[in-house]
Amino acid sequence: HSAVDVIRVKRDGGRLSDEQIDWVVDAYTRGQVADEQMAALAMAVLLRGMTPEETARWTAAMVASGEVLALGSVRRPTVDKHSTGGVGDKITLPLTPLVAACGAAVPQLSGRGLGHTGGTLDKLESIPGWRAQLSVAEVRAQLDEVGAVVCAATEGLAPADRKLYALRDVTGTVESIPLIASSIMSKKIAEGVQSLVLDVKCGSGAFMKDLDQARELATALVEIGSASGLRTSALITDMSVPLGRAVGNALEVAEAVDVLRGGGPPDVVELTLALAREMLDHAGLSDVDPADALADGRAYDSWRRMIEAQGGDPAAELPRARHIDVLTAPQSGVLTGLDAFAVGIAAWRLGAGRARKEDDVDHAAGVLCLAKPGDTVTAGQPLLELHTDRPETVAGAREALRGAYEISGADRRSTPLILDRVV
Ligand code: URA
Repeated sequence: HSAVDVIRVKRDGGRLSDEQIDWVVDAYTRGQVADEQMAALAMAVLLRGMTPEETARWTAAMVASGEVLALGSVRRPTVDKHSTGGVGDKITLPLTPLVAACGAAVPQLSGRGLGHTGGTLDKLESIPGWRAQLSVAEVRAQLDEVGAVVCAATEGLAPADRKLYALRDVTGTVESIPLIASSIMSKKIAEGVQSLVLDVKCGSGAFMKDLDQARELATALVEIGSASGLRTSALITDMSVPLGRAVGNALEVAEAVDVLRGGGPPDVVELTLALAREMLDHAGLSDVDPADALADGRAYDSWRRMIEAQGGDPAAELPRARHIDVLTAPQSGVLTGLDAFAVGIAAWRLGAGRARKEDDVDHAAGVLCLAKPGDTVTAGQPLLELHTDRPETVAGAREALRGAYEISGADRRSTPLILDRVV
């Protein structure tokens, strides 16, 4: 095989054979296909696309580049959830212990945030003592004991994707549905779970800005799952408005705990329950009602055990920002919009996110949305709290929020949270 031949096939709109895909992914992982060659191929894929069969094979080749977690010995049905990422999306935090409390095992191998969306590990690291790095043996033991694990993906899972994603990031080749879908699914298939639920975000705060794109990605993800023997379904959910009220690491943990104690914002509760039902259905546990486990304390108990198992103190105080700046409503009326992307950028500027991979996040920083679309507000009422340890960041956050919300005389019909389901 030659990399140039493979690039030429895709450049000219042809179809890659199974052998070509297996070879190029493997050779790239081993350093025998150069970065510039893979970058050219990624660009050809971005421009020409891949068929569902090519995409499934590409995914399988990336899975085969590393190890697959052997979860066969785990005594409960295994199921995971993946979200394509959004602003205020802390659903993994309440969902993982909730689904475990209902009888399934959930190995959530997660990542850190980059850009305006937060990462689950960054959020949990605001809990004193909590440790993201676990060995495979620890993951397996915790799945048996607690049923819930959220931890860093081990180095050995889908190394081809780690290398390729970093390359795509700097070559303008992230925005390809076959490449995004194979990247996400390779990591999830390598987790070794039996079933998977995808939360494909749609709107200003998401990768996919409109419903057609979101459906296309959801379909590609579900097709790959089915082709590899994973029970897979996807919900397409709104990300034009931040999820819940809290955006930022410790702020989101506090909100997740509210949900686990039977309270919390209605949209976070709705999505947590919808995804839990979907997961329990896949796990053969559809007779269990997750709402009961939230109400009677079983989900919260499962959370405490999950945090403690990884060295965290669930009763410890979370970090709090030294400086809080308040934005108030300029007029009275109904809040009709609150742009997710703008709120994400503001939280990021306040210190909740990173500019470069090696940066640290400020765990206390973020935005608290005191009003959400549909709420009636009066002039002068606090709308948004900007939390930070660095007051000099407030001006930039305020700048990001200019024009991000709308107050009008009449309520507009709000869009539903769950937009579609793809199986
Ligand atoms: N998330 C991933 O894991 N991979 C992509 O390619 C895009 C988003």
